[in-house]
Amino acid sequence: MKIFVTGGTGYIGSHTVVELQREGFEVVIADNLCNSRAEALEGIRQITGVMPGFERLDLTDAGATRDFFARHGEVDAVIHFAALKAVGESVHKPLEYYSNNLNSLMNVLASMREFGVRHLVFSSSCTVYGQAERLPVTESTPRREAESPYGNTKMMSEDILRDFARVEGEMNVIALRYFNPIGAHPSSLIGELPTGVPNNLIPYLTQTAAGIRPELSVFGDDYDTPDGSAVRDYIDVVDLAKAHVVAIRRLLEGRNRQNFEFFNIGTGRGLSVLEIIRAFERATGVKVNFRVTPRRAGDIEKVWADTTLANHELGWKAVVPIEETLLNAWNWQKHLMQ
Ligand code: NAD
Ligand code: WQD
Repeated sequence: MKIFVTGGTGYIGSHTVVELQREGFEVVIADNLCNSRAEALEGIRQITGVMPGFERLDLTDAGATRDFFARHGEVDAVIHFAALKAVGESVHKPLEYYSNNLNSLMNVLASMREFGVRHLVFSSSCTVYGQAERLPVTESTPRREAESPYGNTKMMSEDILRDFARVEGEMNVIALRYFNPIGAHPSSLIGELPTGVPNNLIPYLTQTAAGIRPELSVFGDDYDTPDGSAVRDYIDVVDLAKAHVVAIRRLLEGRNRQNFEFFNIGTGRGLSVLEIIRAFERATGVKVNFRVTPRRAGDIEKVWADTTLANHELGWKAVVPIEETLLNAWNWQKHLMQ
C-alpha cells in the first residue's frame, strides 16, 4: 500500500512516515521545505532502514500538484500535513496563511478526485474548540470562532472537507484534532526544528535548560487551575504519529462509519505549565530557570481531550509517559547542539 504524505519532512509528518514504513507502507513525501529540512529523510532512513520517496513540491501550485498525482496516481491514500502553523505569525500575515493552507488543501482534493484517490487523513487541531465551557472536550463540543487566521484555516479546512465529502460519496476523510504535540523520536534522529525564538512551551523550555535562553516565562499563575498556571493536553509525537497509521487502516479497510469523521487525539489528561517544568526536571535532572510573567494575549485557560471516541473507534490510546516524552525532547535539544 502506497501513501502520499504532504508535509512529510516536517515535525509530525516525519514521525508519521517512520510509523508508516515500520508497518510496511510505501511512502512518497511532497514538501516544499519551507519549514523543514531534507535531512529529515536521512533520519527516517536511519530509523527504518528505508528511504522514503520525496519530491520538493509547493502544493499551492495546482499544476505541480496535479503532475505529482499524475506520476504517482496509484497511491492508496493521502495524509495532508502541509500547512503553515505559527499562530502569532498568522495574525500578521493572514493572506499568506489562508492562501497556503487552503489552496494546498484544495489542490490536493482536486487531484485526489481527478485521479481516484479516495482516502484522506487531515491534520486538524484542538484550536477549533477555543476555550470550551465544559471539559474535557468531546468531538461534539461546539467549535468556537477562531482566535487567529491560523486557527481559522483549520476551521475552514474542516468545513471544506465536510462539504467535499458530502457530494463526493466515494471519498473518505478523517480529520484528527491534535491537542499539544510535543517530544521527539527516542532515537533523537528526528524532531521539531526550531526557527528563531520558539513560541511553544517545550522548545522554549529545552532551550532554557540548555542555556540558549536565560529564563522561561510562565505565562500567568492566576488562572482558575489547581496551581494557577494554564493547562493543556500534551501528546507525545510518536503516539500521535501512530494515530495516523490506525486512521489510514480504518479507511483502507472500510471501517469508517461516515465518509467524514473527526477524532480528538490527546492523552485525556491536562497538565499545567508548572507541572510540565517539574516533570522535565524529574525526567532529566536538569533545573529550569523560570519566572512567572503576565498571561500571554490570546491564550486559553485550560483544555484537555476526551479521547473515548479515538480509543473505541480507532483502537488507539496515548501510552508514552510524560517524563519519557520530555526526556526525548531534551535529548533532541542536545542532538541539535552537537
Ligand atoms: P511543520 O511545519 O513541522 O510541518 C509542516 C510541513 O509542511 C513543513 O515541512 C513545511 O515545509 C510543509 N509545507 C507547508 N506549506 C507547504 C506547501 N505549500 N507545499 C508543500 N509543503 C508545505 O508542522 P507540524 O508541527 O509537523 O504540523 C503538521 C500539521 O499539523 C500542520 O497542518 C499543523 O497545522 C498541524 N498541527 C500542528 C500542531 C503542532 O502543535 N505542531 C498542532 C495541531 C495541528
Ligand atoms: C502551551 C502552554 C502557554 C510558552 C499552540 C497553538 C495551537 C496548537 C498547539 C496548532 C500555554 C504556556 C508557552 C512559554 C509559557 N497548534 N507557555 N511560556 O498555545 O497551547 O497551542 O500549539 O494547531 O493551535 O495555539 O501551545 O506550546 O505555545 O503553550 O508559559 O514560553 O505553555 O501560555 O499555556 P498552545 P504553546
